[in-house]
Amino acid sequence: MSVELLEQQRKGAVDWASIRSDFPILDQKINGHQLVYFDSAASSQRPRQVIEAIREYYERDHANVHRGIHELSNRATAAYEGARERVARYFNAASSSEIIFTRGATESLNLLASSWGQANLKPGDQILLTEMEHHSNLVPWQMLAQKTGAELVFLPVLDEGEGLDVSRFDAFFTPRVKVLSCVHISNSLGVINPVKELCLRAKELGAISIIDGAQSAGHASIDVQDLGCDFYVFSGHKMCGPTGIGGLYGRLERLAAMPPYHGGGEMIDEVDYDSVSFKAPPHRFEAGTPNMAGAVGLHAAIDYIEAIGREAIVAHDAAITKYAFESLQNLGGVKIFGPRGDRGAVVSFLLEDVNANDLVEYVDKRGVALRGGHHCTQPLMKKLGVPGTARASFYFYNQREEVDLMIDALQRARRLFGKG
Ligand SMILES: Cc1ncc(COP(=O)(O)O)c(C=O)c1O
Repeated sequence: MSVELLEQQRKGAVDWASIRSDFPILDQKINGHQLVYFDSAASSQRPRQVIEAIREYYERDHANVHRGIHELSNRATAAYEGARERVARYFNAASSSEIIFTRGATESLNLLASSWGQANLKPGDQILLTEMEHHSNLVPWQMLAQKTGAELVFLPVLDEGEGLDVSRFDAFFTPRVKVLSCVHISNSLGVINPVKELCLRAKELGAISIIDGAQSAGHASIDVQDLGCDFYVFSGHKMCGPTGIGGLYGRLERLAAMPPYHGGGEMIDEVDYDSVSFKAPPHRFEAGTPNMAGAVGLHAAIDYIEAIGREAIVAHDAAITKYAFESLQNLGGVKIFGPRGDRGAVVSFLLEDVNANDLVEYVDKRGVALRGGHHCTQPLMKKLGVPGTARASFYFYNQREEVDLMIDALQRARRLFGKG
């Protein structure tokens, strides 16, 4: 469906079935069964419009950016910088100079820990995280703590993973905290964290705030100025864009005060054998030839998402997630982790006495793609007392009937494993 048609639809009810048909990959059988793709938290699928935009870029406009003065280089530069402007508008950044392209959320967090962290932290300072962070928002800080002598502290998660223990916040927000880095929507639990409040608390202490938006950027309406964060990181491949592109929003005054992350072409002002000066943000942080085709694809993905409308996506995600949650509860013998009320489009669960990986392997035989394991949150799994969970995660191209197919596959699994 064209973006124009999608925009027209916005005024009326969204035709989710025809939106689904924009995703060619979903129309296939796996092991003889219609594919049910419930692994979008790991990576979403892309619509034809994104695939087409990348193809057109390579067929018509590709050359290296910035350096050339020939037509194709100018076109590629316009496409790349146009994508930056599109991303800035999508997150309501004050300027496109506040958007740095990276390979994804992981690289963005490494950039921040390395550039901001090494320049600003000293022994005794505290890095405040939560107990539900993805390894991408934990390991870079552990590496930084080893280098700087700063200490990691963790906002505690309630025992059943329902959310952060808000009643204990006061004890953690002390003047020793120099940086708060917190996941917006947990990829393991579906918890939606009170990031606006957390950023405000950080600001009151003079600490910087970073939001890991890997799971929220493609699902929720994000206004970085309203959130009051210093930085917000995201991955393109979780929001209908290509792999290998993502980025970060950073408040310009913060970015301007940060040293470069990587050195190389594009990020310099002037170089001599014994001296170098650097460009202003965003280019200071983008050494080497960037992922232009990725940026073009991300631009198309954002156009696509906004044509549907983020409010419509949030409502659709919430409805299908609630339906899945209730269907799993009705199945009986299922332990569901995370909040009972509002949650992101993720449901983590375990079928009584069935290993999560065995379960995921079995339902795959029925065409149902779930994810099993620790979901890159090993410490959280230890806290919950399980080695891992099965996880179903949803996006706007999923439908209720697919939840029914998953439930049917789970019922069969239970019979097979002798539990029902
Ligand atoms: C909450 C969260 N943060 C960070 C990441 C890392 O994203 P990427 O692998 O795209 O860099 C993920 C990926 O699953 C995630 O779910």
